[in-house]
Amino acid sequence: MYRRGLACDEFAVGAGMDNRSIAVVTGSLGLVGSAAVRRFDALGLDVVGIDNDGRRMFFGDESSTAPQLALLQTELPRYRHLKLDIRDDQPIDDLFRELGGRIAVVLHAAAQPSHDWAARAPRIDFAINATATLSLLESVRAHAPEALFLYMSSNKVYGDGPNQLPLRAAETRFVLPAEHPFAVHGIDETMPIDQCRHSLFGVSKTAADLMVQEYSSRFGLDTMVFRAGCITGPEHRAVPDHGFLAYLCERVAAGLPYTVVGYGGRQVRDNLHVDDLADAFAFAVSAPRVSGVYNIGGGPKATVSVSEALDLAGRLTESVPIVELVDEPRYGDHMWWVSDFRRFQAAYPAWRPSHGTDDLIAALVDAQLARLAK
Ligand SMILES: NC(=O)c1ccc[n+]([C@@H]2O[C@H](COP(=O)([O-])OP(=O)(O)OC[C@H]3O[C@@H](n4cnc5c(N)ncnc54)[C@H](O)[C@@H]3O)[C@@H](O)[C@H]2O)c1
Repeated sequence: MYRRGLACDEFAVGAGMDNRSIAVVTGSLGLVGSAAVRRFDALGLDVVGIDNDGRRMFFGDESSTAPQLALLQTELPRYRHLKLDIRDDQPIDDLFRELGGRIAVVLHAAAQPSHDWAARAPRIDFAINATATLSLLESVRAHAPEALFLYMSSNKVYGDGPNQLPLRAAETRFVLPAEHPFAVHGIDETMPIDQCRHSLFGVSKTAADLMVQEYSSRFGLDTMVFRAGCITGPEHRAVPDHGFLAYLCERVAAGLPYTVVGYGGRQVRDNLHVDDLADAFAFAVSAPRVSGVYNIGGGPKATVSVSEALDLAGRLTESVPIVELVDEPRYGDHMWWVSDFRRFQAAYPAWRPSHGTDDLIAALVDAQLARLAK
């Protein structure tokens, strides 16, 4: 039986799920997974997290998720952690067999998250991001077919298709003409996903995204696919390959050079606080019968270009950012991405991003300054 949410009174776990009390979170020690663990725990769910500290393998000792594990185990006495690799089918399947019909929701957020890393090790990237997603879906289908399956996809499924939009280079950012259908609310789910450059990471995420949809249409699983833009938050431990805004703020706050790769820093991103994403998951759990694909992000009120972010971070730290410029853009890099999240909002009208660009960057800079002061 579910207890009602502790931290968010407005959420209650969905009707018809009374006998199911478990949330399984893959990638539970990452940025998204750890926020979801806390939100699901606050909803009264018993959270089982799976994470093998893959970040340490991808990005080195500094990126180890061990501190996050210690935090979760201190904060949440009910949290159960399993150091499993999602590529290891048998132990994963054994876990789903054990938990079975008691599982209310699975959030799949484990991934190799970097384009550059994927290009260095395509087989490993595909095995983690795509093949392991298929195995996970099989285990859910076999042992927990009633569970809601939430998949953290990516706006990279759209490849560099958005670069075909009629963008104009203004001084600090690319802009879309006001009359364009995506100009006001951002890019919606009608954006085509093929016939463009994806990066190897984009392809492995797209394969998983499509497979999750297929398990819904072919086998009737309740699945929600979140095609996220940039997600961040003060706890974000970014690296050059992943987490641009947090990494930029870290570099500026520390007085270290930041390398702008391509487009003179005019590329535009919308940014979403990870707690808002966790709220989206909580809304999904509260009304879990809405299978579909959703663009999710900070939307039009939370956009910034790389160049503007550098300027803002510099003003907040009262410093002049040290900038190195590389002319050649990253392969498949979006010149302009703003998430139109109205499809998700139509399903959950109370959901909205709570942070604009300025306060998000201020929070990231403050977090970094606090770390440096220690
Ligand atoms: N952060 C963003 O801006 C963003 C944007 C769009 C999509 N996403 C997607 O959201 C998901 C979560 O992203 P994140 O930012 O939290 O990344 P993250 O790197 O912080 O978290 C991923 C977690 O998965 C774990 N992991 C990796 N390989 C594993 C394996 N084989 N077995 C078990 N655990 C493994 C890592 O140790 C890490 O803790 C990913 O699928 C990512 O592609 C993130």
